[in-house]
Amino acid sequence: MQQTVVEHIEPVAQDVVALTLRARDGHLAPWEPGAHIDLELPNWLTRPYSLCGDPADRDTYRVAVRHDPLSRGGSEYVHRFLRTGRPLAVSAPRNHFPLVPAPAHLFLAGGIGITPLLPMLRAARAAGRPATLLYTGRSARTMPFVDELRRAHGDRVRVVETERQGRPDLTALAAALDPDTHVHCCGPAPMLAAADAAFPADRLHTERFQPTERAFGPGTAFEAHCARSGDTVAVPAGTSLLDALADAGHPLPSGCREGVCGSCEVTVLDGEPEHRDDIGAARGRMYTCVSRALTPRLVLDL
Ligand code: FES
Repeated sequence: MQQTVVEHIEPVAQDVVALTLRARDGHLAPWEPGAHIDLELPNWLTRPYSLCGDPADRDTYRVAVRHDPLSRGGSEYVHRFLRTGRPLAVSAPRNHFPLVPAPAHLFLAGGIGITPLLPMLRAARAAGRPATLLYTGRSARTMPFVDELRRAHGDRVRVVETERQGRPDLTALAAALDPDTHVHCCGPAPMLAAADAAFPADRLHTERFQPTERAFGPGTAFEAHCARSGDTVAVPAGTSLLDALADAGHPLPSGCREGVCGSCEVTVLDGEPEHRDDIGAARGRMYTCVSRALTPRLVLDL
C-alpha cells in the first residue's frame, strides 16, 4: 500500500466530490490512463476508484466519488466523514481498461464513467490523434468535470443531458464512424449494452462498474492450498474463496466483491479456476470474490 494524505475535497457535481491525495513520502506509483486504485477507507472498507488526474504528476492522485444512495458504506463514508488532512492508504494502480492505441478515438462516458476517460482524452489529444468525447448524464449539474472538459477540449466534447435531450443514438453514431476509430466506453449498464449492440467488438473497449447479469451453477465445494503458508482452506458451496481465505487468516483486499475491480486477484499455481469475473483474468490468475474451481483443489501463491 501507499500512504497518502487527503489534500483537497472538492464538489465537482451534484453528489460527486473529487479527492486530491498527496504522497506522504516520495513519489506515488506511476499509472496510465484507465487505471484505478483502491482506497483503504478508515471504516475498514476498500473501494476502487478510477484515476482522473494527470499521470505526469507523481506526487498526487485524483479520484472522483459519487454518493451512491445504495452505498454499502464506501461513498457514504467519503461524502459524510472524510476530511482534508486525513491519512489514507491506497493501493498501487491497476489497469484493466488501457487506452488502446488507434488512429482516432471516440470516448463515450455516462455519468461518473467520465473518470477513466478524462486522462484518456487528454493523452490521445496530446499524442496528436483525433479524439472526441460524447458525455451523457441526466443533466449538466449531475455530471462531473463538464466545465473543465469544455475549457480544455472545446468542441471535441459533446454533452448530452438525457433529461432534456434523450439518450444519444449510438447506432447512428456507429454508422457514421470512421473505420479506423476505436471506441472506449465507461458508464452505467444500459449504456454499455447499447454500445455493445452498436459498435464492432474489435473496436470497442469497455469498463464496467457493475457485473454483467449471468447465471452460474450453485458452485460446489473445493479446497484451496496456500503454497507459501502451507495452509489448506476448505471452501464450502455457497462461500466465496475470498471469504474462506479471510476466515482462515488470509485476508485479501476486496474493493467490489463483484468481479469488476481486480483487487482480490491471486496467482494460481495449480488446478483450474472457474472464472466468473467481468475483467477477463490473465492466464494463471483469478479473482477470488466471485471465481471458483473446476478442479477439486487449487494451489494458490499465498
Ligand atoms: S473484489 Fe473486486 S474483483 Fe474481487
